[in-house]
Amino acid sequence: MIAIDSLSKSHGSFRVLHEVSLAGGEGCVTALVGASGSGKTTLLRCLNGLETFDAGGITVAGHRLEPGPHPPTALERLRRDVGMVFQQFNLFPHLSVIDNVTLAPRMVSRMVAEEARTVGLGLLDRVGLRSFAAARPATLSGGQQQRVAIARALAMRPRVMLFDEPTSALDPTMTAEVLDVIVDLAGGGQTMVVVTHDHAFAKRAATWVVELAAGRVVRQGPPDELLP
Ligand SMILES: Nc1ncnc2c1ncn2[C@@H]1O[C@H](COP(=O)(O)OP(=O)(O)OP(=O)(O)O)[C@@H](O)[C@H]1O
Ligand SMILES: [Mg+2]
Repeated sequence: MIAIDSLSKSHGSFRVLHEVSLAGGEGCVTALVGASGSGKTTLLRCLNGLETFDAGGITVAGHRLEPGPHPPTALERLRRDVGMVFQQFNLFPHLSVIDNVTLAPRMVSRMVAEEARTVGLGLLDRVGLRSFAAARPATLSGGQQQRVAIARALAMRPRVMLFDEPTSALDPTMTAEVLDVIVDLAGGGQTMVVVTHDHAFAKRAATWVVELAAGRVVRQGPPDELLP
């Protein structure tokens, strides 16, 4: 489902990623760990085509990414199969919660409004927020907003989900409610890559841990062996 092979990327003369390789099959949950600046976000952004890279290659959910600019049509196809959840929830502030969740299925997949709403309400149920469907994002807590962002990403039924430190902007209570949703997804067999500093969470959710340092993979293995 995910194969990254000898990926390198520079910003000017600065090597952000250096011959990074990793692989994961269907249902694998990869925790990406490493110090600040080690390249975790950059690697995740490469995986859904938000960043270009200089050398190596990526195959994700059956899509192939090569060095250099990605053709827009290829990116469009890729993003139907690869969902991403960011640190800052990035919800559309002027849309209700349900409209945030159903926008992509309606626009990208041309799902009819009624069906999109049914699917969207089901997803909001799954993240415990069905009663907030009509609310604006700004009236929700950070943890609730992040759960809406997860529901929104799931609405495209992505084969792979990417999470970039999904709880770093949240306090401990809100963190727990978001992590529970992600652990639940992992248990349901969703293929994921999760950037996290939270080792306890990585042990609960991950099937594999990859540690980056200064743009290189320095260690990888099962959570119980790799994490203290
Ligand atoms: N657009 C850019 N131009 C120049 N350097 C960049 C750019 N984006 C990232 N970098 C550098 O690349 C390195 C890796 O950044 P990245 O954001 O991927 O790290 P990270 O592991 O996600 O860190 P954090 O844990 O702080 O989120 C950093 O040294 C960063 O300064
Ligand atoms: Mg980062």
